[in-house]
Amino acid sequence: MSFVVQDIAKTFGGQKVLESVSLSVEKGEFVALLGPSGSGKTTLLNIIAGLTQPDGGRLEIDGEDITRLPSGARRFGMVFQSYALFRHMTVADNIAFGLRVLPRAQRPGRAARAEKVKALLELVEMPELGNRYPAQLSGGQRQRVAMARALAIDPRLLLLDEPFSALDAKVRQSLRSSVRSLQKKVGVSAILVTHDQAEAWALADRVAVMNRGRIEQFDTPEMLRGAPATSFVADFLGIDMLER
Ligand SMILES: Nc1ncnc2c1ncn2[C@@H]1O[C@H](COP(=O)(O)OP(=O)(O)O)[C@@H](O)[C@H]1O
Ligand SMILES: [Mg+2]
Repeated sequence: MSFVVQDIAKTFGGQKVLESVSLSVEKGEFVALLGPSGSGKTTLLNIIAGLTQPDGGRLEIDGEDITRLPSGARRFGMVFQSYALFRHMTVADNIAFGLRVLPRAQRPGRAARAEKVKALLELVEMPELGNRYPAQLSGGQRQRVAMARALAIDPRLLLLDEPFSALDAKVRQSLRSSVRSLQKKVGVSAILVTHDQAEAWALADRVAVMNRGRIEQFDTPEMLRGAPATSFVADFLGIDMLER
């Protein structure tokens, strides 16, 4: 799987929110979109997810143009703040939900679904909690269920928008490392939106630093810190250019 974002543009009510944004994600790679509030991170992720149509540009997965493909047909896993768990469904039913809405040809039968849910509960280290309801879980456990639900469809790409922001610092740290190890274990490519550098450093192989709807630099954490390409990147990362 290789995923390419090419020259994506988006205007909302006369305001250019994204301008010629390009990036790529290699197989199994974890990419973070890092930038201040309002820089266009969520808009870009929503375009990738198929929830927002771009005004221009192209999205490609393994050479296939998916720019106009409906969201549900992309087979992308999503962990968004706005994609909360269903309160009236058990943990197991929440995880199985993604499987039940797959197109008929790809949809596993009841026994296969149960098997899959069991494996996913083990993967996120919650094997005993399938019958609980979301209200009976901690915030960290809920986000692990959301991860399991996103992974249930064997996604071609995993999309995460500030998935830890509602959690306290300690839970956030432990969840970060479990998300990272889950992603590597499953081998899925991932894109994370965050305004928190520490989160980007902890999770990402490469980081796209965004400012006012543009990518200032797309590089490894080492390169970003060692050789910031613009004064914005240096300022945002808190690097003093004169001392280098
Ligand atoms: N649906 C929308 N309608 C109008 N403006 C929007 C909409 N979504 C986002 N914006 C504007 O686009 C800009 C980028 O927003 P967003 O992508 O949410 O940034 P980020 O996720 O980096 O904080 C902001 O100025 C925001 O107000
Ligand atoms: Mg956002």
